[in-house]
Amino acid sequence: MTATRIDGKAFAAKLRERVGASAAAFAEAAGRKPGLAVVLVGEDPASNVYVRSKGKATVAANMESFEHRLPADTSEADLLALVDQLNNDDAVDGILVQLPLPAHLDEQSIIASISPDKDVDGFHVINAGRLSVGQSGFVPCTPLGCMMLLADRLGDLSGLEAVVIGRSNIVGKPMAQLLLDANATVTIAHSRTKDLAGVVKRADIVVAAVGRPEMIGKDWLKDGATVIDVGINRLPPEPGADKGRLVGDVAFDEASEVAAAITPVPGGVGPMTIAVLLRNTLVAAHRNAGVAVPEGL
Ligand code: GUN
Repeated sequence: MTATRIDGKAFAAKLRERVGASAAAFAEAAGRKPGLAVVLVGEDPASNVYVRSKGKATVAANMESFEHRLPADTSEADLLALVDQLNNDDAVDGILVQLPLPAHLDEQSIIASISPDKDVDGFHVINAGRLSVGQSGFVPCTPLGCMMLLADRLGDLSGLEAVVIGRSNIVGKPMAQLLLDANATVTIAHSRTKDLAGVVKRADIVVAAVGRPEMIGKDWLKDGATVIDVGINRLPPEPGADKGRLVGDVAFDEASEVAAAITPVPGGVGPMTIAVLLRNTLVAAHRNAGVAVPEGL
């Protein structure tokens, strides 16, 4: 079997287009564009790239982008004061504080200070709690994007065996919750799981979010599995190259011999994250304005 390549890049582009059209309609009706504030503390190069591309994508989707770049030695009090100002700014529908934060800042306290109704990352404990008990809130962007790709590919997930590898608050745990809500039978596996390969072999759906380059080979996969690879790992550079290749947690070529469908890296899950962030911001704008959230997003 040669697996179908799940084209997250194309899916994300279509989602961004729908969000952009809906944002324009919102602006027409509300007299203002949906607004997303992104806060970056320090100079982490990867974060810098993410923040720049979030800003561009926000503007391209007919939304207002507010970028706040603070020095690496910003105090917790100053950062909390900025979040408070954004919480109270009616032009701001969504607030994202880029992680990781410098070590002297406590991520949990900063996340807790964001209004849950503007927490478009879905990281606030209130939103984690809402997801856990089945209330509508904000769901973290990467797992929600994975669910969109799975629903598009498989339709109904009822009764399917899903194995999520990784238990982070940002991906693994919310992913498991979403799969459970979709009536899959869910296992969360992690670094201490015994016979990880054997557990993964049972899965109709594998979601890999471990951060280990090409850890999952074809021998781990059930014939016909659907594989969602959240990993983004850079291999050491080949002799003569200045950058190594980007690979996922799954060995793509060999896994493609066994799986029915698989997301590539890059071009799979990665592009979904920003598209869903824009979608969450659009939803926040509608909720904050007290108007019905459009269907089909
Ligand atoms: N750092 C890497 N990914 C993310 C994300 O989705 N949200 C935030 N806030 N920080 C990140």
